[in-house]
Amino acid sequence: MYSKEELLEGLHTKVIGHRVFVFDEIDSTNTCAKMLADTGLEDGTIVISDYQTAGRGRFGRLWVAEPKSNLLFSIILKPHIIKTQIGLLPLFVAASVALALETIIDKKIECRWPNDLLLSGKKVSGILVESLSTQESLNYAIVGIGVNVNQSFFGHELNDKATSLWNETGISHDRRSIFRRILEELDALYIEVHKSDFTRALQEWNSRAHMFGHNVTLAQGEHTFTGVAHRITDDGGLVLETSSGLRTFYAGDVTLNRT
Ligand code: BTN
Repeated sequence: MYSKEELLEGLHTKVIGHRVFVFDEIDSTNTCAKMLADTGLEDGTIVISDYQTAGRGRFGRLWVAEPKSNLLFSIILKPHIIKTQIGLLPLFVAASVALALETIIDKKIECRWPNDLLLSGKKVSGILVESLSTQESLNYAIVGIGVNVNQSFFGHELNDKATSLWNETGISHDRRSIFRRILEELDALYIEVHKSDFTRALQEWNSRAHMFGHNVTLAQGEHTFTGVAHRITDDGGLVLETSSGLRTFYAGDVTLNRT
């Protein structure tokens, strides 16, 4: 359970977290943040909950996280970006969370396209960006962030794919200070992103991506595509060098084919 005062103690950010809604239990922080954004709440507003009864992941998957153990929050963002840059938002958020976690655990975090963070090869954080836009520009984006902090077991199906800070360090971490660190890193990069400059965010993301130059498989539902990971496009797509030439993808789950 969180107290708002403790959560925000000593936080110095320019935009992110000036308004924070705190819950013990909620269906999904993304759903709540979307409702708040629809009523016009400002850039940087946050919804955080100790527990979610219907946490959502990408492709309609569930995001299940034990109470009192993890970080689950969503942020309303209203950057001045063009529509084609919306696909860069997950990379900006992933880079910020990676920078924050690295200051806490002193280990390198891997960024896996488009919005997963891995620690020792397993998923430690997931990001879900849902946006509302007009034909030309973005109205708002809801950035949902889940970080596995002190949870030690993820069920038999997920245990070899998911991990937590506790599992990798053997240390129980204070969720509130991790939350504040993430907000500070997001806020610092957001100053540029807000003005549609993703240069530094992409540098940070690219330097943590291990797939470039390697053979990967990209799964989209029943379909899979194989190729060498080439680069990220200006609109956040992943270019693969496939047997039929260069192809750009905008969604999917990527796995590195170790040879
Ligand atoms: C994924 O890896 O598929 C994305 C997972 C995103 C989970 C977070 S937890 C906080 C926020 N609220 C949600 O319902 N989902 C995101």
